[in-house]
Order: sequence, then C-alpha cells, then structure tokens
Amino acid sequence: MTKRVLVLPGDGIGPEIVDEAVKVLDVLVGEFDLDIEMDEGLIGGAAYDAAGHPFPESTREMALEADAILLGAVGGPQYDNLERPLRPERGLLGIRSALGLFANLRPAILYPQLAAASTLKPEVVAGLDILIVRELTGSIYFGQPRGIQVNDQGEREGFNTMRYSESEIERIGRVAFEAAMKRNKKVCSVDKANVLETSELWREVMERVAKDYPEVELSHMYVDNAAMQLVRAPKQFDVMVTENMFGDILSDEASMLTGSIGMLPSASLNGSNQGLYEPSHGSAPDIAGQGIANPLATILSAAMMLRYSLGRADLAERIERAVSAVLDQGLRTRDIMEPGMTEVSTSAMGDAIVAALRAG
Ligand code: IPM
Ligand code: MG
Repeated sequence: MTKRVLVLPGDGIGPEIVDEAVKVLDVLVGEFDLDIEMDEGLIGGAAYDAAGHPFPESTREMALEADAILLGAVGGPQYDNLERPLRPERGLLGIRSALGLFANLRPAILYPQLAAASTLKPEVVAGLDILIVRELTGSIYFGQPRGIQVNDQGEREGFNTMRYSESEIERIGRVAFEAAMKRNKKVCSVDKANVLETSELWREVMERVAKDYPEVELSHMYVDNAAMQLVRAPKQFDVMVTENMFGDILSDEASMLTGSIGMLPSASLNGSNQGLYEPSHGSAPDIAGQGIANPLATILSAAMMLRYSLGRADLAERIERAVSAVLDQGLRTRDIMEPGMTEVSTSAMGDAIVAALRAG
C-alpha cells in the first residue's frame, strides 16, 4: 500500500537540505520500487510567515494523516522577538505533542572517514556508536503548571514542572531495551535520583522493565556524571535512555563527539510506527541559501524513516552504504572539509549520493 510522507522543509538551511533528501527519495521511487506519495507542508518560522502560526491547523491535519514526516529545521533570528507561543520552536514541540512522538532516537556514530573531525583524541572516539533514547513528550517541557507570576513578595518568578507518570517512563524504557537487544545489549539510564523524585520513580520503573530483558545489562548514572563520562570515555556507552531535558543536553554533547553534527540523523516515534525524522542539527541561519550546508544528516534521516516507518530497511541500508561510499570518494561539504579532500556543494553532495545509490 502506498505510504504517505509529509515533507516539512522549515527554516534556514531546512529547504536546501530537504531538497537533497527528496531527490534521493524520488530516485528510490523511480528506480527502486519505493511506494510513497510525498506532500509538502509548512512549519516553524516559514509557517508563521505564511499562515501566522508555527504549527498551522493544515499542517496538523496532514501530519496526522501521514505515515512519516521528514523535517528540515526550524528557527531563525528574525523570530526571536515573537511572543513565545508563536516562535518556530513551538511548531516542533506542537507536532511532537500532537502525534505523541514520545521516543526520540539520536544516534551518535563516528564515521571512520571523519575520525579527525572530532575535537577529542582519535583513540577516545574511534568506533564510537551510541544511541541516545530521549523521552520527548513529557517532563519539564510540557509539565503543568508553568508560567511567570508575581509572588507574595511582589517579585516576578518563573516556574516549570517536571512530571512523569509510571506509564510514560515504562514505554520509553521499553524502547531503549528493545533497541539494546538489536545492539550491544547495554542500557545506561541517566537520571538525577540523588535529588529529584521524578528520577527516583524513573529509576524504579527502569529496574522493573529490565526484568523483562534479562540479556540486557542495565546501569544507572547521574546526569552530571554522564555529561563527564561522555567526554572522558564515551565508548563505555551503548544505549543511553533519559528524560526529555537531560536528553536534549546530552544528545548535543554526544553529537559533538563525532565532530560532525552535519552527519547525524534522528527519529521521533509514537507507539504506532508513525515517525518524524529530522537532522540533529539546527537551521543554521548564518549559512542558509549559500549552498554549503551538509545534506547528509537529512538524507540519513530519510534512511531512518525507511527503516522505522516505511518498512524498507533494505533501502535504508542502501542509503547508508551510499553515504559511506561518497565519504570514501573524498567528497566533503564545508563543515567536514579536510586537507586533501574535495569540497562540494549541498546539491553536488545529493547528486553524489544518488550516483552511489545507482552504483549499488
Ligand atoms: C532539539 C531542540 C528542541 C528541543 C528545541 C528547538 C525546541 O533543541 O530537538 O533538541 O529542545 O527539543
Ligand atoms: Mg536540542
């Protein structure tokens, strides 16, 4: 049956990098028997400009109908002074919440061809392959009550609420353990159980879930220590599972271990294989429109989409092989450029991936 893909280019470099991923998907449709239909919609600042809201009703409807969503990036300095509910980031939070995309998978993989790009010593990061499983629809990002109010002393105070139910913890725990079963069978659950009650409950539920996966080794780590261990000895980790805000912070840290945030895809899934796929990097407004952005994270996000939402793991592998082949050819966008390599534009990189796909 034909699957429906909603394409949301968004802001900054979003449209340019999404174009290249769509180019790749078009070739898979034309030549590799991929049965999808693609629609395009608005999100973020682009949606605010066109429709007055970062997550318009029309986008919500299309998103709910879609099997998968491919998103570029949202945000830009021209939107910084908008009131909070109209900011581009709210578009992203809105779509995560509307679709119940509670499981955010953020791999941090160091491509051997790019080992020199990391700011860490090669021996510390060589062979790095971590999967961060971040809870995405709960905790302090969405918890009520929240706001800014005047307190009894007549002073303004801001407040947010960190909140997790057992079922929310359990379902993200299961995602992490299932993922670990397909990898090195290690889960490190990151929390702040020495201070926070939400973390105390988190730890207890993770222990309970672990009983269903006797082959997987579960460890716990406080988030401050995890931040340190990620730069000290990152290869100790296989799957890391953590709550929304800790995951936001640790996944940026982990991505930089690879030195090439332009290479890292992500998937956000709900309980019915519906998913939103986006590069881990942001909208990079400073380089938008110059044809120098790296489209590989978005192309690799399309690969994750094929694997998790479209039932075509074979094509996902094909894309991943093509990316590796193109790196072997020495082609680099500016962000990963090194002496002796060939610098190519955003669209030339997309063309090279297409050529590599066709070559096998
Ligand atoms: C991310 C981003 C978002 C987040 C922002 C843009 C709302 O940093 O996807 O990690 O905090 O979740
Ligand atoms: Mg973030």
